[in-house]
Amino acid sequence: MTITVAPISPVLGAEIRGVDLAAGVDDTVFAVIHQAFLDHGVVFFRNQSTLSAEAQVRFAKRFGPLHRHPAAPANDDEGAVFVIHAHRDSPVANGNGWHTDVSCDEEPPLATMLQIHQPPDGGGGDTLFASMEAAFAVLPEDQQQQLQLLTARHESEHVYRGRYADRGVDDDGADYPSTVHPMVRTHPETRRPSIYVNRSFTTGIVDMDADDSAALLARVFDHIERPEFQIRFRWDANDVAIWDNRCLMHFAIWDYWPNERKGNRVSIAGDRPFFDPDAPGPRESGIRVSDGAL
Ligand code: SIN
Repeated sequence: MTITVAPISPVLGAEIRGVDLAAGVDDTVFAVIHQAFLDHGVVFFRNQSTLSAEAQVRFAKRFGPLHRHPAAPANDDEGAVFVIHAHRDSPVANGNGWHTDVSCDEEPPLATMLQIHQPPDGGGGDTLFASMEAAFAVLPEDQQQQLQLLTARHESEHVYRGRYADRGVDDDGADYPSTVHPMVRTHPETRRPSIYVNRSFTTGIVDMDADDSAALLARVFDHIERPEFQIRFRWDANDVAIWDNRCLMHFAIWDYWPNERKGNRVSIAGDRPFFDPDAPGPRESGIRVSDGAL
C-alpha cells in the first residue's frame, strides 16, 4: 500500500491514506505518520476496522508513554482507555466546548488518539480543531510580545467535579489538578510558538488585576476561536484522529441528542509547557485577519 498525506486546509489537518492501523505499522510508516502529525497538528485515518483497546494502546505507545486522565474512569488495566460516550441520558457530552486536553495538568498530554466506533445516527457529532500556532502567528508583534510575557492559571474542579458520576465515579474528597502555564508555549519538537489558553480550563492571568485579566482573556478566547484557524471533521464509523495538544485545541459538538455517539480515546503523556524566547518565530500562516486581532 502506498501511504499518502493529503492536507485538509493550509492551516491544519491532514488525512493519511494507505495505512491499516489494526494491522500495525512498521518504523518507516510510523515515521511518515509522525512527521505528518508534526506538520499538520491533527491527522485522520478513514476506512479503518475497529481497533481493540489493546491495539489502540499499542499504536498510541509508538508516540510515547501513556497519560492517565485525572477524572474519567478508565476501561483497561493500564488506566489509559477513556470511553467517549454520549446518549439520551448523558448529563454532559465530553469535550463539548473549546479546550486543550487536560491543560490543568502540570504535564498535559502531548497527543490524543480517538477512534469513533459509532457516530450518531442522522449525522452530527463532528469535531472542530483550531490551530493555536496560526492564532499566534497572525497577531501583531506587540501583542505577541505581550502574551509571551504572561502566564495563566488552568483549573479543573469546575469541569470535572461530578462529571463522571453517571459512570459510577464518586469524587467526594477528590482533589482536581490546577496549575500555571505560559500563555505562549514553544513546541518541544517543532520549536514553533502557539497560544496556550482555552475557555474550558484557563481561569485567570497570573499577577494581573482580576478585571484586566478577565478582559484580556475574553479577547484572547474570541481571537483563538475564529473560524480562520479551524477545520471541522465529520466522523464515519471507525475513523481515527490523532491530535497534537501542544499546538491546537478542539471542540466535540453535541448536536445529536438524543442519539448516541461512542468511541475510545487514549492520550500520550507530555512534558511541562515552556516558552523559549530564543526559539524561531511562527510559520507564515497565510491567514489575513483584516479586522484587528486582540
Ligand atoms: C475530546 O474532547 O477528547 C473528545 C473529542 C471528541 O469526542 O470528538
